[in-house]
Formats: sequence, C-alpha cells, structure tokens
Amino acid sequence: MTTIQKEKFRKQGLHFSYKMKATGTLAGVFLILTAATNAQTQSTQSSPRQMVDALHSAFGKHPDARAVHAKGLILEGNFSPDPMAKSITQAAPFIGKTIPVTFRFSDFTGIPDIPDTIGASNPRGLAIKFHLPDNTSMDIVSHSFNGFPVSTTDEFRTFLLAISKSGPQAAHPSPIEQFLGSHPIAKSFVTSQKPPSVSYATLSYFGVNAFKFKGKNNAVTYIRYQFIPVNGEEFLSPEQVKNAGPDYLSKEIVKRIADGPIAYKMYAQISEAGDKIGDPGIAWPASRKLVLLGILTINQVADNTMAQDKAMIFNPGNLPVGIEIADQMLKDRQQAYPISVAERRK
Ligand code: HEM
Repeated sequence: MTTIQKEKFRKQGLHFSYKMKATGTLAGVFLILTAATNAQTQSTQSSPRQMVDALHSAFGKHPDARAVHAKGLILEGNFSPDPMAKSITQAAPFIGKTIPVTFRFSDFTGIPDIPDTIGASNPRGLAIKFHLPDNTSMDIVSHSFNGFPVSTTDEFRTFLLAISKSGPQAAHPSPIEQFLGSHPIAKSFVTSQKPPSVSYATLSYFGVNAFKFKGKNNAVTYIRYQFIPVNGEEFLSPEQVKNAGPDYLSKEIVKRIADGPIAYKMYAQISEAGDKIGDPGIAWPASRKLVLLGILTINQVADNTMAQDKAMIFNPGNLPVGIEIADQMLKDRQQAYPISVAERRK
C-alpha cells in the first residue's frame, strides 16, 4: 500500500478508528412467509463489469488479487449440522453428516498489502465453502459487520466512485464526505466499525444478504447467516494496536490453530413480517429468532501459495437445491465475482 493510498483512506473518513465505540449487536418465529412481497424487486442499472471497475477505481487494480478483500488466508476444517437446522431447511449441507469446509479470512479493500491495523482494513471477511458428498459445493461470503453501507448495488457503485474521487488533493467537502453526509447508513457503517480484533477468529461475521430457505412441505423461511465464535469476541486495546504488526492477523491465526481448533456457531437469523428482506443496509432486529444450523470447526492452515489463493473461488450465488437468493444485491454479486476471478487468472 502506498503512502498516497494510506493518506487517501485516512483523509476521506474511511479511517474506521479503533477509538470509536463498538456498536454492533450480536444477534422469532418460523416464518411461512408472505414476506416475498418485501423482497427488493428494483433492478440494477450498474453492470457487473462496472461494479468491478468501481472497486478498482476505489482501491487500485492489483494483478493476481481479488478486486476487494484482496489480503487473506485460507484455512481448512469441517461443518457438523445441528438437528435444529432441519426445522427450516432440507438443503444438503444441513441434513447430512459432517462435511469438509474451506475458509478464507480477509481484510477489506482491494489492496493486497493493507496493514491489518488501519481502519480501512475493516470489516474483515469470512468466506466459506462447504464441500458436499456429491462433489458440489455451497459458498457463503460474509463480513464482520451486521449490515452494509448502502441498500442497493447502484448505491454501492456511487459510494466506491466517491471514494475514488476523494484523494488527499480533493476539495472539501470531498465526494465521499458529501456521500456520507447524505447517506446516514453509510456514515454509521464507516464510524461504528469494531476495533481491530485479537484474531480473525475472535470476531462475529454476518452474511448481510438474505436467502430463501425451503423446508419440509416447501415451507419458506427468509434468513440471514450469522457466525459467532464459540469462545466469544475479543478486541485489541489501543495500546495493543500500536504494537501490532501490519500482518499480525495471519501470524496470530497460524499460532492459534497450532494450539487447537477454532469453533464457530452458524446461525440462521429468521426474518419476521415487516423486515426488509431486500435491503442489506438495514440489520434485522437482534430480537429475531436464531436457529442453530451447525458448528464450523477450523483445524488447519492451508499452504496459502499465491497459486492457491488465485485458484480459490467463493461466490455467494453458489447454492444447493433448497436455498435461493432473496435479494437483488446477491444476484448482482453472483455475476460480479466471476469477473474478478477471471482477471486474477489472466
Ligand atoms: C453489490 C455488492 C457487492 C459487490 C459488487 C461485491 C463484489 C465483490 C468482488 C468482485 C469480489 C472479488 C471476488 C473474487 O475475486 O474472488 C468480492 C469479494 C468479497 N466480498 Fe463482495 N461484493 C459485494 C457485496 C458484499 C457483501 C454484502 C459482503 C459481506 C457480506 C461482501 C464480502 C466479500 C468478501 C468477504 C469477499 C472476499 C471473498 C474471498 O475471500 O474470496 N461483499 N466482492
């Protein structure tokens, strides 16, 4: 990361300072829903290509790297479904035996060497690939904030383009300052990130977008995923942040795994009538019922060669029978991710 890029992120308010107070909350009824009416139907104007280009304009174009969440590492483990999962889904990952899983933890932005300690490296990412016995897979791509800065894909592009036009030389109010001034949800996203965590594994992660689960007798439930560390969340103090190195997270997790496995509870947060299914900018209330889907165990660090990181693909639209996309942003993500994959494989 160049000094100019660091300065850009600091100046434009994307300095998600660890001093800011953590405001995230962790978070029913089984909903045989009418809420499909709630799902966003508005179509997106921005093409998947334009979305990837907008990510590049905000974070720079870096060969071999993902357009966003470029810095990361791959780990391995497994998933054991909980019997409760069957109450809302018949999808293969949740009704069978323990299956192998691949994980990738990451930092925000498309800058491959972003220091783990600076605000713009938050939220962290957690991508998960469930390997099914029939050689198919299911992917989930989540991050460490319960929500998103904007409600739609088009607004996300405007947000990214505003970042790109807000370098250190930009006059005030800069485009991103203007955007944040008129978009309170984005402002709250930027200012209420949690401090740097002790570990990638001492953070909760959220799927943010919504999925439609089909259960027995085709009963429909709209859900969002949550991943909660069994041993709880843990953050660095400001003093510890000062002493942490730029790559402290990858070093820490290698040591942690050597000492024993890491466990996550995987939940489905169940929507209720009135929740905005199609608006990832708005978290559903923490009072919504959580159904335990199973336990994810991480027990090994992968080789993490450049070739492996380039080859590993997670697409939030890679779904098994019985789970469907329930919001427009997911449809758009499904098409944008392969463009970035193709670029890094050139
Ligand atoms: C319109 C909205 C979005 C667009 C256009 C978008 C686009 C992308 C693209 C192009 C990539 C790179 C894929 C690759 O090269 O393999 C990516 C990766 C990623 N995105 Fe998104 N994204 C969006 C929303 C989200 C949301 C809502 C989340 C969090 C819930 C998220 C979390 C991540 C993470 C964690 C990765 C890294 C995945 C990995 O480790 O391979 N994105 N995104």
